[in-house]
Amino acid sequence: MMVNKRIFLLVAAICLSIGWSAARPPAEGMWLPLLLKQLNEAEMQQQGFKLTAEDIYSINRSSLKDAVVSFGGFCTGEIVSAEGLLLTNHHCGYGQVQSHSSVENDYLTDGFWAMNRQQELPNPGLTATFIVRMEDVTSQILTGIPAAATEAVREATILGNMARVRQEATAGTHYDAVIKPFFYGNEFYMYITETFRDVRLVGAPPSAIGKFGGDTDNWMWPRHTGDFALFRVYAGADNKPADYSPDNKPYQPKHHLPISLKGVQQGDFTLVFGFPGRTNEYLTSHAIQEIYEVSNPAKISIRETKLRLLDEDMKASDAVRIQYAAKYASIANAWKKWIGENRGLHKANTIEKKKELEREFAQWVNADASRKQQYGNLLAEFGQNYQQLDGITIARDYVNEAAMGVELIRHAVDYIRLVELVETKGAASEINTLADRLEKSAPGFYKNYNAPTDKKVFAALLDQYYQNIDPKFHPEAFSSTARQKYQGNFSKYADDVYSKSVFVSEDRLKAAMADLRAGKTQAFKSDPGFLLASSILSHYRSEILPVYNQVNDNLNLLYRTYMTALREMQQDRKFYPDANSTLRVAYGKVADYEPMDGVKYKHYTTLEGVMEKAAMGGVEDYVIPARLRELYEQKDFGPYGVDGQMPVCFIASNHTTGGNSGSPVINGNGQLIGINFDRNWEGTMSDIAYNPDQVRNISVDVRYLLFIIDKFAGAGHLVQEMTLVTDDTSGLPHADNRKEAPKKKTRKQKKKEAAVK
Ligand code: ARG
Ligand code: GLU
Repeated sequence: MMVNKRIFLLVAAICLSIGWSAARPPAEGMWLPLLLKQLNEAEMQQQGFKLTAEDIYSINRSSLKDAVVSFGGFCTGEIVSAEGLLLTNHHCGYGQVQSHSSVENDYLTDGFWAMNRQQELPNPGLTATFIVRMEDVTSQILTGIPAAATEAVREATILGNMARVRQEATAGTHYDAVIKPFFYGNEFYMYITETFRDVRLVGAPPSAIGKFGGDTDNWMWPRHTGDFALFRVYAGADNKPADYSPDNKPYQPKHHLPISLKGVQQGDFTLVFGFPGRTNEYLTSHAIQEIYEVSNPAKISIRETKLRLLDEDMKASDAVRIQYAAKYASIANAWKKWIGENRGLHKANTIEKKKELEREFAQWVNADASRKQQYGNLLAEFGQNYQQLDGITIARDYVNEAAMGVELIRHAVDYIRLVELVETKGAASEINTLADRLEKSAPGFYKNYNAPTDKKVFAALLDQYYQNIDPKFHPEAFSSTARQKYQGNFSKYADDVYSKSVFVSEDRLKAAMADLRAGKTQAFKSDPGFLLASSILSHYRSEILPVYNQVNDNLNLLYRTYMTALREMQQDRKFYPDANSTLRVAYGKVADYEPMDGVKYKHYTTLEGVMEKAAMGGVEDYVIPARLRELYEQKDFGPYGVDGQMPVCFIASNHTTGGNSGSPVINGNGQLIGINFDRNWEGTMSDIAYNPDQVRNISVDVRYLLFIIDKFAGAGHLVQEMTLVTDDTSGLPHADNRKEAPKKKTRKQKKKEAAVK
């Protein structure tokens, strides 16, 4: 009895001292490829990674990084064939699929598959960017800053240094260079990039697969979305980036990821390699409180209104549905994310935990005289600065979300500078360049613009702004026009704007622009939409932005100091810099979780769940194509199913964020097992604080997308192009087994291709 108790206590003590790590290995962090060897390699290998840091990122030989691209600057993609075939998410390629769609040729609804190279569709403006190498340039960027420099002087010196270092690094090459601050400007890294400009659409499943579950399931687990699309990178005759030309040929990459058919088990090592956009892991409690209590609730409620109005009109008209599909999806996406973020922050008691850390920090500072001198005021200054933002943050949120949420206002803002230039007789060249640019972008705007819908949004959102924001933060037009002319009735205001404004139609705007080119500004200066936009912008610039910028400059310095101090205080902790759209590695494990008491979620889903959701009936996000049901009923899963089941999605503990969409999920051997596309709802808090118990990234299982391409779409020629593996051989580029000859086409395939041509 006695002994047992002692053993129990001992075990309990060990568990306590190693904490969470006993049950779950560490997974927090978005790491720099350059520093993996030093910081992460040993731990990764311990967790099941069979390769080395050099295999992930090397400048001497091809490595996994050569198969990863920033897709259009907003998502991630990976190369999966020797002929430049690129995988990313359906929601990342959504804008492209939409732009090729019309009511007659509705690729959003029906999907799109190029059956041969000629059918692949060019996408002007879309890019794929590879990382050639990265460098720590901290010392070169922080050189020449005078000892007692103000933030402005420091900033100016840094900008000058950056321009010089970038220039030196890329002179005589076709590469670009990006330098970004890390840890709030304590460190700087440069990324040398190669950007391809001819990226064509190859395939996308119907939305009923690629967006299955839609906004109902977005940010949630269990999930059943086949969120993938295929593109191809094209290059000039020299295999280098080139503008679109029918003569371009498929890019031959240094590496393409082999695809594993082995699938995933609970506990398997997973590596996510991609371009996470933005996180704020080191915020103080003051900032999180503001987000949690003020910003998120305000933004959520504004978007709720807008979504409701868009939804009404999209349901009433197919044309409006297509026009607003991508916009709706992106508005809904952030809206739902903020809701989840707040839940997660609440659940993990994040504000209180940050306060705890700050108390600990204060103690550490106070324990030493020199620390006291350096850092003694830090927390108080944070408090003072955040206090200065009181009222400002929410006013800014309303400008961004409510005022700029009205398309007409957002659009009119783009013309303010031009009108100003014409009024003040600015340089003709500048006027022409700006006018050209605006005229070029107008058709794109009007293609997806429905004035009657926008009018409803105007009336509702501006009313919310008017009612909820302290009049001291109202633009002048609110007190004059809105109050005096329309007694605060924004429907009446809308009637006036949408009957008179030149911005409601492309034709009216064209006429006004012709006048403007002839030096006449009257059409704009008397336009009620233009006047309102100008009033909002000038109020924003004079009353909100100066305070906001000033405080942020202060905060940047405070955070830079705080980072230095924290790293001094927590010497055993491995710090990773906040995401900033640069290439990062996140590693974790396939892992189930318990969302609440009494409930446990499995780590994977199958086609069974698609059918269950579809059977609910009446939920339009759950309607599936007949062909998918047929394949399910026949259990016709080809080599992609396992034990009569078709795996669809899985979750793991990788630390990811927006921008990681489309990122390859790679197993311990360097083979592709999934494409990252989402996080679970409470897990969205990981942009601010990572909670190992609850944060999961969601990926589509590669076997599901192969099944869809091959069995569902009959586009097996694309699968043929990929390298499928069923064993544990290394997925490395320099391994000899990768130099295989292109596979022969099957007879069936040749026949199909011929038929299409
Ligand atoms: N939540 C994912 C991301 O942040 C997917 C968004 C697209 N899907 C959607 N139903 N809106 O991008
Ligand atoms: N869907 C997100 C994206 O587009 C990724 C999900 C996340 O934020 O983790 O990047």
